[in-house]
Amino acid sequence: MTVIVGSPGVLLRVKASRPRPRPLLSPPHPIAHPRRHRRYVFTPCAAKAQPLGTARLTVCRDPNRIGDRFVAPAGRDFHFLWWSGLVRLAVISDIHGNAEALRAVLADIETRNVEAVVCLGDIVGYGPDPLACVDLVAERCLWSLLGNHDFGVLYEPTNFNPGAEQAAYWTRTQFETEADEAARARRWTFLSQLRVRVKFGSENQIIAVHGSPRRPVNEYVFPDDAINGTLKIQQIFERIDRCAVVGHTHVPGVFTDEPDFYTPAELKNRFTFQNGEKCMINVGSVGQPRDNDPRASYVIIEDGSIEFLRVPYDIDAVARKIKSIPQLNDWLADRLYEGR
Ligand SMILES: [Fe+2]
Repeated sequence: MTVIVGSPGVLLRVKASRPRPRPLLSPPHPIAHPRRHRRYVFTPCAAKAQPLGTARLTVCRDPNRIGDRFVAPAGRDFHFLWWSGLVRLAVISDIHGNAEALRAVLADIETRNVEAVVCLGDIVGYGPDPLACVDLVAERCLWSLLGNHDFGVLYEPTNFNPGAEQAAYWTRTQFETEADEAARARRWTFLSQLRVRVKFGSENQIIAVHGSPRRPVNEYVFPDDAINGTLKIQQIFERIDRCAVVGHTHVPGVFTDEPDFYTPAELKNRFTFQNGEKCMINVGSVGQPRDNDPRASYVIIEDGSIEFLRVPYDIDAVARKIKSIPQLNDWLADRLYEGR
């Protein structure tokens, strides 16, 4: 099931299909619109998320309406949710062309009653299956962001070490040599439309970026920064209304504005938002974890809490593929076993 989630006050343009949306918990205001289109104004409602019915969505990309909140393929059937805050949202990041890890995570998400999946970028780079990963993210994620490796493949590798740069060029070649012209164009278009930041959640209090709210694509925020980079953390938190979700370092955990950093183990894999406190959540990496745990990492956000999850996958299969590709350094396979 694909679900559109959003904030109160959001305008959606909806083309109803059969069956038409049922009467709502709190009726929206249908605004007259030519032909079969209607506009619905979502207003605040305290009710827990409940499906309103099925409708065919015409995606509206005007950022003043829904652009920062909804990006989804047009013409599909969606279940609309009425919600006053977050529903259950899975956040994945840093897949890095590791299709085995991505499929394992998506399968795990399927079992957890999650309404939507979003991705914080670095879909490609390092791994042997960039095309499959782009296709899966395009199909399964509500939206994705642009990571520095996506940027490197699409435009040019910036500040990459030689191995990463070579992997980026090999990855670009995979996109360029796709025989299916339509598939090639579709993937390039998808990559070129990735955004660098999205705000979502109740009153848009959550900002999602790949790197940091200060430098969305390229800035690393490491756990040590909570101790040694106090000014850096302060400037980053000045750009956070309530919460940020990030990736990039491949190290999951929670930064607070004290400042401090907590690993998932220290939090027993669950962090609960406190009133008046700001936080920045690193969701870890699906395809190349670097916290000494080789299992794929992702999080689920639900109302006021974050759950950190780990998923084992077939590392042998990925390592074999990497080692069969001369342009991908064997180290990229070896590090998967160690999670670093
Ligand atoms: Fe990454």
